[in-house]
Amino acid sequence: MKILVIGGGGREHTLVWKLNQSPNVDKIYCAPGNAGIAQIAECVNISDTDVDALVQFADRNRIDLTVVGPEAGLVAGVVDAFQAQGLTIFGPSQKAAELEGSKIFAKYVMDKYKVPTASYKTFTDADAAKAHIKASPAPIVVKADGLAAGKGAIVCQTTDAALKAIDMIMVDRSFGEAGNKVVIEECLKGEEASVLAISDGINFIPLVAAQDHKPIFDNDEGPNTGGMGAYAPAVLVNDDMMKTVCKTVIAPMIKGMALEGRPYRGVLYAGLMITKQGPKVIEFNCRFGDPEAQAIIPLLDCDLAELLLASCNGTLDTFEVKTSPKTAVAVVMSSGGYPGEYQKGKIIFGLENITEDNVTVFHAGTKTNNGRIVTNGGRVLAVAAVSDTVDAAISDAYHAVGKITWDGAYYRKDIAYKALKR
Ligand code: AMP
Ligand code: GLY
Repeated sequence: MKILVIGGGGREHTLVWKLNQSPNVDKIYCAPGNAGIAQIAECVNISDTDVDALVQFADRNRIDLTVVGPEAGLVAGVVDAFQAQGLTIFGPSQKAAELEGSKIFAKYVMDKYKVPTASYKTFTDADAAKAHIKASPAPIVVKADGLAAGKGAIVCQTTDAALKAIDMIMVDRSFGEAGNKVVIEECLKGEEASVLAISDGINFIPLVAAQDHKPIFDNDEGPNTGGMGAYAPAVLVNDDMMKTVCKTVIAPMIKGMALEGRPYRGVLYAGLMITKQGPKVIEFNCRFGDPEAQAIIPLLDCDLAELLLASCNGTLDTFEVKTSPKTAVAVVMSSGGYPGEYQKGKIIFGLENITEDNVTVFHAGTKTNNGRIVTNGGRVLAVAAVSDTVDAAISDAYHAVGKITWDGAYYRKDIAYKALKR
C-alpha cells in the first residue's frame, strides 16, 4: 500500500509513525510534513488545504489510502474531491465535517437526536446577543459558529467579559466569517475528557478515552492553547462511563448523521464535560485530537492502515481494535511565548539522547535548517511515553523531556497529574 497523510503537526507524525508499522504499507508520503515525519516518510511540499494539488498528487502517485489530519481540508471538502476521482480517503465528507465547521449545525443535530449538551441560543446580531448575555447569569460561554483555529470558544466569568467577546467575534471580526453567527451557552461544570470513535457511517469503534490539557500553565491556568499534553486512558472515563458515552453521544450522532443524509465516516471526536448529570458534549471535532492522538495511537494494538481502510470500506463491523493495557503520557514542548507571539528557528538540542524503547518524540512545529532540526511553530514536539502505570509514564515522559532543550523551550510540569489525583 502507498499512503498519503495530509498535515504536518504532531498528530500527523503520530499517524505516520503508526502507519509505518503496518506490514502492508510500503511507502508513506506526507503533505507537507515536518522534520520528524521526514525521517520516516517522504514529505511533499503541498499545503493541507490545497485540495486540487493533493488530488493530483494522489492520482499521479497511485496512492491507495489518504489520511487527513487537520480539520481545514475536511471542512473545505478534500474528501469529496478525492472520492470524485475514485481515490480512497479516510475522513468525513464536507457535509459531515460540518459537525466541526459549524457549532450551530452540531447543536441542531444534538438537539434533534437528543444528545446531551449545554443549553444554548444562537445569534446573528451583536445587539441581540448582548441583550441575551445581560439577561443571563455569568459565567457564560461565547462561541464563534465557524472554524477559529481552536480559539473561537471563550469561557466568560463575567457579563462584561462576555460582552467583550461579542465585540471581538461579531464587531471586530477577529475570526473573520467564522464570527457571522455565535452560540451563547451555559457554562458546564465538571472535568473534561475526549472520546474518539472511528466510524464507517453505520458502525463505530470507540478508542481509549484521553484527557487533554488546554491551558498554557500548570493547574490549568492561563489562556487556552491547542493542547499542552494528553494522557490515555482517561481515568474518569471508566468502563461504565464509556458505555454511557457510546450510548448517549456516539451512537445517536452516527445514526443521526446517517438519517440527515450525511453519513459520518472518519474519526468523530467528542469533547465532553463529565458533569454530575453525566457526560455532556462541549464540541465535536471531525478528526483526531492533537495532542490526544499522541497518547491514544501508541496504545493501539492493531494495524492502523487496516482500521482506517475498514472505515473507508464500510467494514468496521468485522474489525477488532485491541488496546494495550498500559498508559501513555504525551508532554508537549512549546516555543516560549506561545500561544502568544514566539520566535522560530531555534536549534533543538538533545533529540539524539532519547533512546528509550517506550518513548517517542513526535514532532509538530519543526524543520531542518542546514542539517539541524530547528523550531518552526508554537507547539514544537510531544514527548510520549508508554508505561505500565500512570506514575511510570509520567516519570518516563518527563525524564525524556529533561534531555531536550532549545532557547525558550517551555512545557507544563503537571501533565496527567489529574489521573494521579483520582
Ligand atoms: P472548544 O473550542 O469548543 O473546544 O472549547 C475550548 C474549551 O473551552 C473547552 O475545552 C472547554 O474547556 C471550554 N468550554 C467550551 N464550552 C464550554 C462550556 N459550555 N462549559 C464549560 N467550558 C466550556
Ligand atoms: N486537543 C484539542 C483538539 O485537537 O482540538
